[in-house]
Formats: sequence, C-alpha cells, structure tokens
Amino acid sequence: MTAPDIDRLLGEMTLAEKIGQMTQVEKYSISPDEVAGHGIGSVLSGGGGNPTPNTPETWRDMVGSFEEGALRSRLGIPLLYGVDAVHGHNNVYGATIFPHNIGLGATRDADLIRRVARVTAEELIATGVRWDFAPPVSVPQDIRWGRTLEAYSEDTELVTELGVAFLRGLQDVDGTGLANPAAVLGSVKHYVADGGTEWWSAGPDTDQGETTGCNGNFEDAISEERRRTLEQHQNLFGEMYEHGIWGQRIDQGVAKITEEELRAVHLPPYIAAIANGARNIMVSLSSWRDTKMHAHRYLLTDVLKGELGFDGFLVSDWLAIDYLDDDYYTAVTIGINAGVDMVMVPHDWRAFMDSLTRAVEAGDVPMERIDDAVRRILRVKAEMGLFEGVRADSGSVAGFGSTEHRAVAREAVAKSLVLLENNGALPLSKDAGLVYVAGRPAADIGLQCGGWTIEWRGIPGGDIPGTDLLGAVNEAVAEGTEVVFDAAGHFDDRIADVGLVVVAEPPYAEMTGDRADLTLPPEDIELIQRMRSQCRTLIGILYTGRPLLITSQAEAFDALVAAWLPGSEGAGITDALFGDVLFTGKLPFAWPRNDRQIPLAALEADSNSPLWPRGYGLEV
Ligand code: BGC
Ligand code: BGC
Repeated sequence: MTAPDIDRLLGEMTLAEKIGQMTQVEKYSISPDEVAGHGIGSVLSGGGGNPTPNTPETWRDMVGSFEEGALRSRLGIPLLYGVDAVHGHNNVYGATIFPHNIGLGATRDADLIRRVARVTAEELIATGVRWDFAPPVSVPQDIRWGRTLEAYSEDTELVTELGVAFLRGLQDVDGTGLANPAAVLGSVKHYVADGGTEWWSAGPDTDQGETTGCNGNFEDAISEERRRTLEQHQNLFGEMYEHGIWGQRIDQGVAKITEEELRAVHLPPYIAAIANGARNIMVSLSSWRDTKMHAHRYLLTDVLKGELGFDGFLVSDWLAIDYLDDDYYTAVTIGINAGVDMVMVPHDWRAFMDSLTRAVEAGDVPMERIDDAVRRILRVKAEMGLFEGVRADSGSVAGFGSTEHRAVAREAVAKSLVLLENNGALPLSKDAGLVYVAGRPAADIGLQCGGWTIEWRGIPGGDIPGTDLLGAVNEAVAEGTEVVFDAAGHFDDRIADVGLVVVAEPPYAEMTGDRADLTLPPEDIELIQRMRSQCRTLIGILYTGRPLLITSQAEAFDALVAAWLPGSEGAGITDALFGDVLFTGKLPFAWPRNDRQIPLAALEADSNSPLWPRGYGLEV
C-alpha cells in the first residue's frame, strides 16, 4: 500500500476506527468478535500469555482467530499480534530457549546474534506471530537492576552492535525487507535510559510512596491480568511478599542524568537501530529527571521523531499510560500528546478508547496527532505486506524447536561461557573417573532458563524440553566414568575426582529481580564448602543474570564459569567443560569485588580494581 493509499484509508476511517488502531489489548482481555467490532489494531501476549494447551498449533489458532476478527471489521484493517520473544520464543512449550542477552553479550559475536534472531523469528512465524518485543537495547549501569539479564552489556558500543544484529536477524530475510512472510517486526526497547535509573528511585523511599510505588501498581496489574490463573500466581506473589523478595527499587525508576550522558550512553543504540530499519520502538516505564518517558514530548517527539527522523510508530509499555496521572483521562491525554502512537492498554481497552475519544472531541488531543499516530501504524502494517494478505507462513520456515535450531542455541551457550578462574582443571577429561554433580540447578532446566520462560517469572522445577546440565554431563563422559548427582551435595564417603557445583539466582522478571544484596545465600556457600571437601577438583558454575558478589567463595574453586542463564541447551556447557570447544566468552559487565563497587559509577570512582574487569575471560 502506497502513501496516497494510506491517506485515502485514513480519510475513510471514523474517529472510533482510528482509536481502535491505536489500541493494543492483552489477549485474555478481548475476544476476536470484539476485535472485529472495534477495529482493534493489535493484541499481545504478555509474559506467560499462552493458550491451553501450549503448543505451536494452539498459538497459531489463537493468533489466527484475532487476525480474522480484525479482517471482519468494517474496513478489514489487518491486526498485528505481539509477544516477548526475548530469548527464543520463550512463552511456547517446546521452543528453542537461547541464553538471556547478558550471555549473548559475552559472545561478542554479532553474526551469531543475527542467527539467534533468525531462529527466534522462524519459531515466531511457526506460531503465526510477526511482532517481537525485542531487542532490548538497555545499557544497565547498576547490576542490582532486575533487567540486567535482558541487556547485552553495560557498554554502549557492544549493546549497539548486538542490538542491531538482532534487529536485522528478525526483520531481514536475505535483504527482502519486512514484507517477506518470514520477517518479524522488532520492537527496540525501552526508550530511553531504562538502564540509567538510580537505586531507590523506584522504591518506597521515594515520593511515589509506599503503596503507589510499583508495589501498588504491580499488585493491580497482577490481580487483573491473572484472574484466570489466579491460584498459581497468588501463591507465587504471596510467597514473594512473605519472604521479602518483592521489592521494586530501581526498575521503572528515575534516570537522574544529564542530557549529555543520556545522549552518550543510552541514545546511540536507537540511532543505529533506526539506521538499520527499526520501525517500532517501545517507550520505557522509567523517567528522565522529573518526567516519565511516556509523558516526555521532548524525547519522544522532538528528539526521536524529529531530530532522529523516526517515522515508524511508538508503542507504550504495559500499563504505562495509567501511571501518568491519577485521572485516567488526563493520563491518556498526556501520553498521546507526548507522542505515543499505540497504547499497550493492556486490560481495560473500553476505558482507553472512551477517554481518548472524549479527549479528541474536547480538543485536548488534536486530530492531527491522531492522524499522525494512525498513519505511522498503517505505514508499518503496509510495509509488512499485511494489506496484501502477507501472513506468517509457517511452511516457509524451518521446524519449531528443531535440531537445527537447538544447534544454534548450543553454540550460543558454549560461546557465552566466561571462564573466570582456572588452575589447570579445565578442560576436563571425559575419562574423569568419579564425578559428583551438586546443586538443584544442575538438574532443573527451569532454573537453567531463568525468568521469561513459559511464564513471566519462569518455571523453576517445570518441564521445558531441552537438556539440563546433569543430562549433558551424563551424555558427555566416557563409559566407565561414574556420575553421581545430589542436589544438596550429600554423597557417600568416597572422594570424587571431579565435583561440579551449580549455584543459581532464583528466576525473576523485571522489578521482581531488583536486588540490593548480590551475595550468595548461606545454603549455596555451605554447598560449595561441602563439595570442596568431597572432591579433588572443584568446578563452579554460576547461573545468573548478572555478576554476583563471590569474592570470598572464588578461591574455593579450581575453575569457575559464569554460564549466565543458558536456556534449554545445557550441552553447550559440557562442550566447553570437556574441551570440545574453547572457552572464548568475555565479561559484558565488570565483575565487582564488593558492594562498594556497585553501581558502575562507584566502581569507576573506586581506587581498587574490580574482581574481574569488563572484557575479561580466560581462554582454554
Ligand atoms: C515490559 C516489556 C514487555 C511488556 C509486555 C512490560 O512490563 O516492560 O518489556 O514487552 O511488558 O509483556
Ligand atoms: C505480564 C508481563 C508484564 C508484567 C508487567 C505480567 O503479569 O505477564 O507481560 O510485563 O505483568 O507488570
């Protein structure tokens, strides 16, 4: 569809239909008939927004039914369905689950990241989805942030290079552009400086107050979204409150930085992404100084759409508009006038549509702003060939969760490993003799995958097709090598030749991962000590979304590996442990010695060196 065609279509649209295009609804909150009746522009699955049973076929049916709803609307404008495929198509049972981005950052391999994105796109296409809320191009400056794992690095240049590689992998199929039925629209997120927020700026210590801070907001979001799967989630979040695990402190907080720093550290990935075909950008839930990004007309409209010439569309983040003002009408007005084009409502779309309608009728939102937003959305839909009927063509792509796809993930895992310590213990011989494996994560693929896997916060103990580390060790060793596993590290009185101990961060997503204390819990420290006394050579493996404070434990190991959150293909770890591939990963974040070296600015100001600097990694 050409530009004049889009203008003609715009001319035929009623205000209600225009606002429908600007509305993105969470899939539990709307039916295909309602999509048809209201000309809704987009539907999404949030983390864990899965059909039952959770299979590629049911996904295809679910997405297809919403798409057909849109085609039945008066003007038949096609729908865009979006999901968070942030380490593979991670909501879907049986998908290839890649390492989280921090691990991909350690590979420093842009071509690999492009291939990872292509596989992810193929699995999205296999389920009918053509819009991925990725890549995040956050540049975290404080590893206590619960989204550090979603970022490639604390270094702007590396984030830029790998973010662009991922975007191209999604959107580009042999240079044919977005209209290729195997192309997936990316969403570069979260604009801007989401990684530059300050500790405590989102917690109860701030003027957001004890209840309205993200605790209050979050509780609302959960209770509404999860009505249908209430039991499971109430237990989960109840437990978090009880144990004090819950506590948003920095996620969605305030970046109190100068414009110069914002432009130097956080803006470059967006400039590069736009130059490389970014057509959608997601706005950050955080604030810059005293203004929420969703209200920031200067950064959204003047800088991004004006100065940087971005003519794709901006989507808001989950519930973000709601936080702009206590009065919802005012909140909607502020967000749309600031430059948000499509609103991830996600639940009460009638209230959103009604408020925006009233705002336009009252002249609080100019009609030109609405036309601009809709034109941007329709332009991208046209570029994707949606008006010509280009749909995700599952026949055009390689198999979902296939061996070929898993081979790319296994390669990514092996290349993501950072060898922190090695006194000659690695590589291990496959004829190792007696091998003890300890730590629940060694046999828990849910912990190996981390958050954003099947459910928003992951599924510890859950069933995820793939290979856990224990399985991979059993597969790798020669006949005659005895492998014994005990989660708690209780073995008989033999001394093992090799001990492998895995410690992991519990899975989290977003604010649930904000953590003040990055030291290991006492159980993990005891487990390491117990293992030390039961084996001649002790190898430590960390499953983590960020550097942890392990200065006092590091010397207990003969070799220590940061494996990040590797995903479904644990054999990538044994490939390196047993010397089939070299350890080549390099730290994407500096590894602090103690909490006085957090955040990054404190480390840079400290006269002591970090435990290991960014870029460090032994090669054997
Ligand atoms: C997150 C986004 C995500 C969206 C949809 C938000 O809470 O910040 O990264 O794309 O939810 O799940
Ligand atoms: C959803 C996520 C979303 C989050 C925001 C969760 O319930 O599943 O997609 O990002 O809420 O708070």
